[in-house]
Amino acid sequence: MPMIDSFGRVIDYLRVSVTDRCNFRCVYCMPEEGAPIAPKEEILIYEEIVRLLRIGAELGVRKVRLTGGEPLVRRDIVTLVQQVAAIPGIEDLSLTTNGFLLPRYARELADAGLHRVNISLDTLRPERFRAIARRGNLEDVLAGIDAAREAGLTPLKINMVVMRGANDDEVVSFARLSLESPLDIRFIELMPINWSAGDEGMRDFFALSASNGAKPSGNITLYANDSLASFKQLFRQPAPGEQRGMLNAAQMRCMFISAAEIRHRIEEACGAMEPASVITNGPASSFRLPGAVGTISFISQITNDICERCNRMRITADGFLRPCLMADGEVDMRTPLRSGATDEEIRRLFLLTVRHKPREHRLEDGLAPTGRNMSQIGG
Ligand code: GTP
Ligand code: 5AD
Ligand code: SF4
Repeated sequence: MPMIDSFGRVIDYLRVSVTDRCNFRCVYCMPEEGAPIAPKEEILIYEEIVRLLRIGAELGVRKVRLTGGEPLVRRDIVTLVQQVAAIPGIEDLSLTTNGFLLPRYARELADAGLHRVNISLDTLRPERFRAIARRGNLEDVLAGIDAAREAGLTPLKINMVVMRGANDDEVVSFARLSLESPLDIRFIELMPINWSAGDEGMRDFFALSASNGAKPSGNITLYANDSLASFKQLFRQPAPGEQRGMLNAAQMRCMFISAAEIRHRIEEACGAMEPASVITNGPASSFRLPGAVGTISFISQITNDICERCNRMRITADGFLRPCLMADGEVDMRTPLRSGATDEEIRRLFLLTVRHKPREHRLEDGLAPTGRNMSQIGG
């Protein structure tokens, strides 16, 4: 019996954040210092994750994605993959990673039963990489992409979060990667997850975007796309005490760039794309450049509502079941798991959460999620 929500959507995809820690500090995701990290005892242990997924699979979950933070920094992640791969009913097991540790783990992950990976990569320039991710290095991530390919973790997708003035001049170079390599290059619109106060710690990043003609602080310009007018309500001033060291609302407003604009730029440089089909459980729409081996996809969750086709729920690293990425509501699964709940009781909590899955996000009404960072929810 599949899980069906109040609006008739079949929920068959669970994204599980296995850790809120990360070895990078991407400017749109985490502050450089003092990232919110749950105490170890609040993080679900593997046995608990596997139990939730087993019960989920009995309720019709067919696709599982392991996320973070960075999932590969969690100890013995390969063991978890092995255990999840063995759950009857799971047909697609994937992982989203920053790629840095893939040279070490790709082969073992594939052997353990992982089907595929999505790798985040926002720039092909080493010095920019330092400004955006603030840890790690480009070379290792590129080696990680090669390692994933060699290990057969395919279809292999590259996620680029596009930011005006910071990396948008690289969209054509990214798109061209699809010409010769069997990669799905995905352009993601910047999303308002717990945006907060930027500050001194962001100096390198702003130097980067200023040198590319953006005005990241001071005067705020609205998006090129007028249809986004209502979106401006999202951008509130940071409240006292908000996190520092990551992009704030005003900076994001300057940097947002729509998928339509990115597509236009690519087509101007490389020619018209034709629709393509790529295995996906998510919101991407896919295309192919003339003669290309690989594909190009757009994740336009801001300019183009995908809520109608939403098929997923999330489990946070500290054990909360979250029915919508963009809305703050969550159900505590950890306490019942740790206080002797039966499978039937857990099942009821899943079904209760599904019933309360919102129809759509309310970003256009100014209701952005505030409770957690992306690194805690897992994207
Ligand atoms: P595939 O099945 O390989 O297509 O994976 P995916 O796109 O579901 O997974 P991935 O972890 O690579 O997510 C990429 C991006 O998709 C995230 O950064 C988000 O921007 C967006 N995304 C994923 N799920 C949701 C969702 O439920 N709502 C919204 N608004 N965006 C989402
Ligand atoms: N907006 C858009 N994408 C984001 N990601 C993380 N934070 C944001 C954000 N604020 C992306 C990562 C990763 C995916 C899971 O989510 O780059 O590829
Ligand atoms: Fe880490 Fe991914 Fe967040 Fe970057 S976007 S800090 S790689 S979790």
